[in-house]
Amino acid sequence: MPEKSEKPGKTMRNKVALIGGGEKNLGGLLSRAFAASGAKVVVHYHGSQSEAEETVRAVEEAGGQAVAVQGDLTKVADVRRLFDTAVDTFGGVDVAVNTTGMVLRKPILETTEDEYDRMFGINAKAGFFFIQEAGRRLNDNGRIVSIGTSLLAAFTDGYATYAGGKAPLEHFTRAAAKEFADRGISVNVVAPGPMDTPFFYPQETPERVEFHKSQAQGNQLTHIEDIVPVIEFLVTDGWWFTGQTLFPNGGYTTR
Ligand SMILES: NC(=O)c1ccc[n+]([C@@H]2O[C@H](COP(=O)([O-])OP(=O)(O)OC[C@H]3O[C@@H](n4cnc5c(N)ncnc54)[C@H](OP(=O)(O)O)[C@@H]3O)[C@@H](O)[C@H]2O)c1
Repeated sequence: MPEKSEKPGKTMRNKVALIGGGEKNLGGLLSRAFAASGAKVVVHYHGSQSEAEETVRAVEEAGGQAVAVQGDLTKVADVRRLFDTAVDTFGGVDVAVNTTGMVLRKPILETTEDEYDRMFGINAKAGFFFIQEAGRRLNDNGRIVSIGTSLLAAFTDGYATYAGGKAPLEHFTRAAAKEFADRGISVNVVAPGPMDTPFFYPQETPERVEFHKSQAQGNQLTHIEDIVPVIEFLVTDGWWFTGQTLFPNGGYTTR
């Protein structure tokens, strides 16, 4: 077992952090927050190049270092190229957070084979190979976090391929937590409640948005600012917390 760091703390100085979907929304805020704590950041993006460039620019303007890398993470070769780029650019990786995902709200009877494959491609397959490659490439005492959804703990309709596609992350995470523990690498899932980002709204009606708000503290959706500190806790030195799913919801931060 590698040596433990001395004291818990929020600093990420001398760390390299790779963020899947690190260009915008939750991942974009994580990129900026990790950089502000001293990490060098690898900002992965899929289709949103301008947001990735904007995030890299913001990190650099604040005095940090970041690089943007495009990739379709449903392709294992792209997952490997992403980690290769991190190692080639910054000499190693300490923290890998996968925020990628895709949502679909559709009854089982109407769901097509193509929709099923796309949902499981990004939510489950990409999640698996991200953890696999992180396990191969992370430095000792590294940190892996995957983003699930609070639907993992829900009993609801319409989200079979979304919640079902995210559900394997918990099992991949438990297995990886055991398999990587002797190198001091922790592996966890953070599963937020409904978050106020453009990801959330297209599949919801105004009435359902109000219902979700009514179920949360302060009658508001979860903010990305509520979730970032939970992930910071998991990835900074001094804590040992592995193989778990955290279900943080919102209501704390106000705008
Ligand atoms: N917003 C919510 O209500 C909510 C609640 C609980 C959990 N979550 C989870 O939180 C995470 C972040 O969500 P968010 O709200 O911040 O929205 P988001 O920014 O749209 O996050 C999804 C990310 O996945 C990327 N992605 C999609 N397909 C991909 C592919 N084939 N290869 C690589 N990347 C791909 C998207 O890139 P492109 O857009 O360029 O394709 C985007 O960067 C997601 O995993 C989501 O499931 C969201």
